[in-house]
Amino acid sequence: MTTTTASTPTAEDDELPGARREDGGGDGDAFDRDVLPAPPGATAALLRSLLAPLKGRAAVTTLLLLFQQAVAQAGPLLVAYTIDNAVPAFRDHRHGPLIAVAVGYLLCALLSGALQFAFIEASARVSQDVLLDLRSRIFRHAQALSIDFHERYTSGRLISRSTTDVESLRELLNEGLQELVTVVLSFVYIAALLLWLDLGLGAVAVASFVPLYLLVRLYQRRAGRVYRARSTAIAAVIVKFVETMNGIRPVRAFRREAANDGEFAALNRRHERTNGDALLEMARYVVGSRLVANTAVAGIVLWGAYRVASGSLELGVLAAAVLYLRRLYDPIDRLGMFLNSYQSAAASLEKIAGLLAQTPSVPEPSEPRGLPPARGDFPGREVVFDGVRFAYRTGGEVLPRFTLTLPAGQTVAVVGSTGAGKSTLAKLLARFYDPSDGRVLLDGVDLRELSVPELRRGVVMVTQEAFLFSGTVADNIAIGRPDATREEIERAAKAIGAHEFISALPDGYDTDVRKRGGRISAGQRQLVAFARALLADPAVLILDEATSSLDIPGERAVQRAMSTVLHGRTAVVIAHRLSTVEIADRVLVMEHGRIVEDGRPAELIAGTGRFADLHKAWRESLA
Ligand SMILES: Nc1ncnc2c1ncn2[C@@H]1O[C@H](COP(=O)(O)OP(=O)(O)O)[C@@H](O)[C@H]1O
Ligand SMILES: [Mg+2]
Repeated sequence: MTTTTASTPTAEDDELPGARREDGGGDGDAFDRDVLPAPPGATAALLRSLLAPLKGRAAVTTLLLLFQQAVAQAGPLLVAYTIDNAVPAFRDHRHGPLIAVAVGYLLCALLSGALQFAFIEASARVSQDVLLDLRSRIFRHAQALSIDFHERYTSGRLISRSTTDVESLRELLNEGLQELVTVVLSFVYIAALLLWLDLGLGAVAVASFVPLYLLVRLYQRRAGRVYRARSTAIAAVIVKFVETMNGIRPVRAFRREAANDGEFAALNRRHERTNGDALLEMARYVVGSRLVANTAVAGIVLWGAYRVASGSLELGVLAAAVLYLRRLYDPIDRLGMFLNSYQSAAASLEKIAGLLAQTPSVPEPSEPRGLPPARGDFPGREVVFDGVRFAYRTGGEVLPRFTLTLPAGQTVAVVGSTGAGKSTLAKLLARFYDPSDGRVLLDGVDLRELSVPELRRGVVMVTQEAFLFSGTVADNIAIGRPDATREEIERAAKAIGAHEFISALPDGYDTDVRKRGGRISAGQRQLVAFARALLADPAVLILDEATSSLDIPGERAVQRAMSTVLHGRTAVVIAHRLSTVEIADRVLVMEHGRIVEDGRPAELIAGTGRFADLHKAWRESLA
C-alpha cells in the first residue's frame, strides 16, 4: 500500500491543530492550506517538463514491454497445442511436436525474462531521473524563495513536499506506472487471443469487463475520499512532529511534553483511523473484483466443458482459455492499487506544482547592475533610504516614508524601543524584503537592480541567532568567503577574539560543531559569526543585537575589536546596551518607524532629548 501525504484542501484541514500554520495566524490566506495557488495547468506543465528530456528512453521502454508481453502470452497457446496436437502425435510415436513445444516454451521463458529485465531496468532509470530532477527542483526553488515565503510556509510542509509527496510520485513511477502499462497491454493481447481462439468464450470474457470497470470506478470515487483524508492526516503528523522538535527548548521550558503527547497521539490516531478506512476500501474492492472474476471463470469453464463434451470445442483450447482468464483477472487487484497510487501522486504533484509556482517576492534583477568602483582602499559605501515605506504582509506599516543617508565609512548606532522597526531597517538594507514604496540605494544603485552576488558581497548582516552549519569551525567562518586560506580564517578569528576558545576545542579549528566536544555556547557562536562577517569583508556591515549573548566584558572585547574591524566600512550597529555608542560616529534614536533623534553621541548625551535620558538611566544602572 502507498503512504502519502495531504492532498487538496478539505474541511479536515481546519479540524487538525497540527495542520495550521505554526504562528497560529488565521488570516485565511492560501498559506493556511497545503495546496498553494498555481496557475491553471501548472501540474500538467510540470509533468511535461519532467518527462520531456526522457521521451526517447520512455519510447524504448514501451517498445521493450510490447515485445515482452507478446512473448510472455505465448505460454497458454503452447499448452493448447500440446494437448490438441503434440500429445496425440506422441501417442502415434512422433516425438517431434512435443520436443518443439518444450524447446519453444523454454525459449519463450528465457526471452520473456530477458526482456522483462531490460524493461524494469530501463523504466527504473527513467523514473529515478524524474525523481532526482524533481527533488533538486524543490530544493533549489525553496531555497531561492524569499524570506517572507519561509515565514509563512512552515518547514514541516516543505519537508512533507520533498519527502512524502516525492515518495508518492516514486511509487507511481516505480510500481504503479509499470503495472498499469503492463496490465493494459496484457488485457489487449489476451482479449485478442481469446477472441481468436474462440469467439464465444472470448466474448464472455470481454463482457465481464463491464462490471469490473464499474467496480473500478466506484472504488476510485470512494477511495479518493478516504485517501485525501488519510494524506491530510499524515501531513498533520509530520507538521506537529517538526514543529515540536524545532521548538524543543520552549517545549521543555514550559513543560509542554504531556500536552504535546496528547495532541500528537490524537493526530496519530486520526492517521491510523484513516489508514484503516483506506485498507477497508481496498479490501472491499479486492473481494468484489475477485467475485466477478471467479464468476466469469466458472461460467466459461461450465460452458466450455459442455461444448468440449458435445464436440464443438477442443480440450486444449478450453485449457488455454482458462489459463488466459487467470492471467486476465490476476492483475485486477493490482489495478486498484495503481489507481490509489495514481490518485495520491496526482494530489502530491499538484502540491509540488503549487510550491514551484511561487515566485520570490524579492526577485533577482533581469538586468543586474554592478556597483561603481570603490574609492581607493576604503571599502565603505554610501547607503540611502529614499522615501522608503514598508509593511509586512501581515500587519500595518512599519516604516512610514523613511529617509536617511549614511555616508560611506560611517558607523551608526541605532537605538530605540522594541518594535520600533530597527530590525526591519536592517532587513531592508540586506534586501530580505523590498520596500513597498521608495528605494534603498547602495552607492546610488537601487538594491533591486544590484546583481545578487554583488549585494551578498556588499552587505553582510550578523544577528543574534548566530547559526552554525554542520561542518568544522573553520568551515563555518569561511562561509563568507569559501576560498579563504587557513591563515585568513585564523586572522579573522584573532581579530574578533575568538581564537582562544577555538584553540581550546578538541580539534581546534577542525572541530566538528555537531559532534561531541564541538558544542559551543551561544556567545561563542556569536564570535564565530563575527569572524565569518569579518572574513567576508563587506562594504556595509549590519550588526543586529549581535552581541546580546555575550557577557559585558566579552562585549567590550568584541567592541574594541569591532572599532578596528569597522574602520572604513559603513556600519549599522543595533544594540540593546548603550555601550555600543562608544564606537559609533553617529547615533539614531528610532521610534515607531521614524528617526526621532540623530547626532554625534557626545552631542546627544549632553542634550536633553530621549537619548540623554536613556543614557543617564543606563549609566545609573551600571553604577
Ligand atoms: N516577520 C514579520 N512579520 C510581520 N510583522 C513583523 C515581522 N517582523 C517584525 N514585525 C513587526 O514590525 C514591527 C517592527 O519590528 P522590528 O523591526 O523587529 O522592531 P525592532 O527590531 O526595533 O524591535 C513590530 O511591530 C513587529 O511586530
Ligand atoms: Mg530587532
